[in-house]
Amino acid sequence: MLSVVPSPIVVRAPAKVNLHLGVGDLREDGYHDLTTVFQALSLSDDVQIAPAAALRVKVTGEGADEVPTDRGNLVWQAAVKLADLGGRAPLVEFAITKGIPVAGGMAGGSADAAAALVGLNDLWELGLGRTELSDIAAELGSDVPFSLHGGTALGRGRGEKLLPVLSRNTFHWVLALAKGGLSTPAVFRELDRLREVGDPPRLGSPEDLLQALASGESAQLAPLLGNDLQAAALSLKPDLRRTLRAGVGAGALAGIVSGSGPTCAFLCESEEAAVTVAAELAGAGVCRSVRTAHGPVPGARRIIGDN
Ligand code: C5P
Repeated sequence: MLSVVPSPIVVRAPAKVNLHLGVGDLREDGYHDLTTVFQALSLSDDVQIAPAAALRVKVTGEGADEVPTDRGNLVWQAAVKLADLGGRAPLVEFAITKGIPVAGGMAGGSADAAAALVGLNDLWELGLGRTELSDIAAELGSDVPFSLHGGTALGRGRGEKLLPVLSRNTFHWVLALAKGGLSTPAVFRELDRLREVGDPPRLGSPEDLLQALASGESAQLAPLLGNDLQAAALSLKPDLRRTLRAGVGAGALAGIVSGSGPTCAFLCESEEAAVTVAAELAGAGVCRSVRTAHGPVPGARRIIGDN
């Protein structure tokens, strides 16, 4: 008799870049109201999920040493939350393969959390719909709903209230990964400090950027990219100025700090242009390593074990 060995569940979840990140004033709950436009990129993490005798997290890939393997990891918190909801014990092992830079401003931890939600919903047959998963995602972190959603989306509130955005064509990016990470709360605090001592410019409405996305023209989109957190990231890591200059000098249409940084994202005219910019940046000694990516791509989705 044939015995059927169940294939493992593997969920792939994308990195994100904020094409527009407008940050409001500090709220009483310690968060800031955002108006942001997210794009999901082809750089991704894979999360394998299997039943186990105890809750365990293993991490491999670049930067794996810096990722917590206990309740400090959002996949652990996702498992505890969904197990509570399903009235069961969180007996699973996660094997995370990192492709997204750790503490890089690209929502790597959020991507893993979104992958855990999708995978556990299937493994435990919880039958949760996208809206329910998105509500749980928002409790785990501000960027987790977008990691589930993917594509291109307008984010409001803490970034968790999403509306899909029409985006024509594929955009080509070069990502310059920095030496060392930046802590997201520290970057938001630095922005609050800069706003106390001065008046750094604030982004206006993303309306023109949304139109450029609908047109699908990278040259139209490039000058409209903006990030209110960039001044704070540059204040904490002044070397990033050199990285941003080098990317544009190498032929990118524009460069911005991705989210809270320190990864810098460069929009390029084409895939070929991105390869050229990546090669030149890699040789310029202004970053730890370089990746090319494209977007938009889908949110967290099963790539193995999907019947
Ligand atoms: O939601 P998440 O846990 O990812 O946020 C991490 C930290 O980033 C928050 O504790 C807060 O300091 C800062 N943050 C913020 N405003 C947001 C999102 C995050 O101040 N909209």
